[in-house]
Amino acid sequence: APLLPPEFKSCGVAYVGDDPLDVNCCPPTSDIIKDYKLPPVHRLRVRRAAHRLNQANIAKYKRAVKMMRDLDVSDPTDPRGFTQQANIHCAYCNGAHDQVGHEGLDIQVHFSWLFFPFHRWYLYFYERIMADLLKDPTFALPFWNWDHPKGMQLPGIFDEEDSPLYDPNRNQDRRPPAVLNLALNSTITDPAQIISNNLSLMYNEMIGTPASATDFMGKAYRDGDAPPTYPDGGTSEKGSHTGIHAWFGDPRNEYNEDIGNFYSAGRDAAFYAHHANVDRMWTIWNKISADYPKVITDPDYLEASFMFYDEKKQLVRVKVADSFNHKNLGYDYESVDIPWVRSKP
Ligand code: C2O
Repeated sequence: APLLPPEFKSCGVAYVGDDPLDVNCCPPTSDIIKDYKLPPVHRLRVRRAAHRLNQANIAKYKRAVKMMRDLDVSDPTDPRGFTQQANIHCAYCNGAHDQVGHEGLDIQVHFSWLFFPFHRWYLYFYERIMADLLKDPTFALPFWNWDHPKGMQLPGIFDEEDSPLYDPNRNQDRRPPAVLNLALNSTITDPAQIISNNLSLMYNEMIGTPASATDFMGKAYRDGDAPPTYPDGGTSEKGSHTGIHAWFGDPRNEYNEDIGNFYSAGRDAAFYAHHANVDRMWTIWNKISADYPKVITDPDYLEASFMFYDEKKQLVRVKVADSFNHKNLGYDYESVDIPWVRSKP
């Protein structure tokens, strides 16, 4: 059977490993839950590369994040607030939510075929909340174009200390212009070599390594299963995606907060730009020709569902199957050169 969405009323303590956290990351509860219907799309929002945003788009993006941060102060229980949005990740990934009907069995949205759909829905509502606060239906999140050499450092908009996009809880050695290294535990220091390794890593996780859809997406995860762990994840999740979390999480903090741990990752505005690019990788993989079927038709996959608050603070249930076509969700990605397709090692 498919994984059921969590019951927010039963949300409990979050953990890192076996250590209980002293943050309460449970969402507000609501008695009214609706099955989410995708609204008609009139015009696609276009997510642009963060390092190529124009001044007007940068200003808008900062304003949106500032408005979410202001909600934290005016009403900490408002599900649209910056901290509440960050807590979504904590609750779904650090054991605060149990599987319905399986008390004590944590929900984990990483390391399985749920990884891409969950994060797509998460960003979808995050972006819609911003658009609604800005009263601008065209607003789109930027993506951190870390798979292109020009994007292989933290985009400058996140590194201005007086900006709502800034987060002091980052590895200070990795501030721009430090070159992003996607490989975990790499000791290479030559920037040109790092960039060329990054491109090979991208080629491998997108094209070279996966031999099935679940190799790329992550393994099956169903109702009653134990929480999946790192080896069960897909090539992209375990590769570039995890690489970035590890690369600039702050080693001065116990759990490498902010972006270096699930529970705190969403406190860094750059997390959402990172995940927009992760989501973009899913759209690119879908278009790459492969000698295995890309579509997973297992009903336990299609019917798996999650719970989010939408931009009107309505609690909604969303299905994995409804996330497959990002254009139905009303957005697309600006098209930019994809150098790693030519980087077969
Ligand atoms: Cu839900 Cu990049 O992690």
